Amino acid sequence: MKIEFSEIATPSEGVIAVGVTEERTLGATGRALDEQTGGALTRALSAGRFKGKQGSTSIVVAPHGLELDAVLLVGLGQPGKLDGRQLRAVGGVAVGRMNAAGAKAGAIAVDAVEGCAVAPAEMAAEIALGARLGSYSFDKYHTKKKDEDRKSLGGLTVMLDEPAAAEQAFAANASLAEGVFATRNLVSEPSNVMYPRTIAEDVEALAADGVEVELLDRGRMAALGMGSLLGVAQGSENEPYLGIMRWNGGPEGQQPVAFIGKGVTFDTGGISIKPSQGMEEMKYDMAGAGAVIGLMKCLAGREARVNAVGVVALVENMPDGKAQRPGDVVTSMSGQTIEVINTDAEGRLVLADALWYTQATFKPRFMIDLATLTGAIIVSLGTYQAGLFSNDDELSERLIAAGRESGEEVWRLPLGERYDKDIDSAIADMKNVGKGREAGSVAGAVFLQRFVNGVPWAHLDIAGMAWMKRDDDPTVPKGASGFGVRLLDRLVRAHYEA
Ligand code: BES
Ligand code: MN
Ligand code: ZN
Repeated sequence: MKIEFSEIATPSEGVIAVGVTEERTLGATGRALDEQTGGALTRALSAGRFKGKQGSTSIVVAPHGLELDAVLLVGLGQPGKLDGRQLRAVGGVAVGRMNAAGAKAGAIAVDAVEGCAVAPAEMAAEIALGARLGSYSFDKYHTKKKDEDRKSLGGLTVMLDEPAAAEQAFAANASLAEGVFATRNLVSEPSNVMYPRTIAEDVEALAADGVEVELLDRGRMAALGMGSLLGVAQGSENEPYLGIMRWNGGPEGQQPVAFIGKGVTFDTGGISIKPSQGMEEMKYDMAGAGAVIGLMKCLAGREARVNAVGVVALVENMPDGKAQRPGDVVTSMSGQTIEVINTDAEGRLVLADALWYTQATFKPRFMIDLATLTGAIIVSLGTYQAGLFSNDDELSERLIAAGRESGEEVWRLPLGERYDKDIDSAIADMKNVGKGREAGSVAGAVFLQRFVNGVPWAHLDIAGMAWMKRDDDPTVPKGASGFGVRLLDRLVRAHYEA
């Protein structure tokens, strides 16, 4: 779906959306259309239940006096409460409704809203972002899908008095959406298409965006002593890779911020094999890596004034004659030894070496890892917020705030000595599980903490957020959500750009 900005004009085809604030109040464009249609909009507003509640819609089809197909009334709610998040939802709702109506061309008129703190250009940029994010679909493998079953909208024109200002304000958001789409595409692909080498090739392709890229293969990782990561990889025919991305948009010599992603391209559980029911979902066990790649694409695309490092640990967890066994002891790059009690707790094993490598190589200001680490986080938080674990209060506060603003929310859970003690092993420095079903997500987090070497760090357990089975967020269609890209882009924008 193409997005353009233009001055306000009544289109001769398709659907035009106008905002309605609570208690049925039209804006300037709505009032003008109402006049052109001999009061059709006012009549529609008084005929039904639609009052302009945030996110609600009402459609007036084939209005007399206009050539276009329909006028879509979109609820803006209370003007004083209209913030970025609500505006993005408005954009998402509008394109959703236009697609449902089968519209090929759409327009959204953005008028100044009395009592709303956001200026029209900024409103338009947020609405356009929401529209773009909501327009996503992944249907490349449907060879027989009829056109009427695909999203119909080919183009969207966002109309306002200052189109140039809106276009400028939207530029960074367009890069953000590109990043989110890159992540969604990676995560949507099945594991026979996206496996460590093919994702590594996608990492390499970021060179075209101005990102410095490097790949470590099995030999290099072995030479670095990454026995923990390689232990997971050893049951797979697919060679593992560590992908390293650097975006140097900040002042030379400035310490980078670092993002590390779990990239288990398929998680069978290994010898501690998972039940077959639902195992197909484990193709999205690389969503952390996907988010890091999308984030780097976004930062490069909008030329963020920051030095950022992205590291993705790409492995496949398979059962095999060569696979690691429960009870095996591996030595990580840090020198610490790990008893592998459960080969299905593999994410922490690959991140252990990725985190250690990142802090040793780049001396970052902070490290944030993203991982579909535990099923337990879904038990704790469901699919509305990701789990946040951190050794740093300031970083945590910033992430929580960025979550609220971006709509990708995180909830902090504890670390601590007593949890840490639960992963002590009788035979090695630690084991890769805690006390059975107790505090399973915390056990994963305290394990990771042993590999950050005191660097400010946050761990985001995104197991419940990476794949959406619901579609109540108009900016996130079902399937791969791209969770993390919007959150971390917001974090960087707010605090880490020169
Ligand atoms: N990839 C899974 C976690 C997961 C579960 C992600 C559901 C997305 C949806 C992870 O590798 C895993 O298997 N974790 C185990 C840990 C346990 C063995 C300590 C789990 O959650 O059961
Ligand atoms: Mn697993
Ligand atoms: Zn996993």
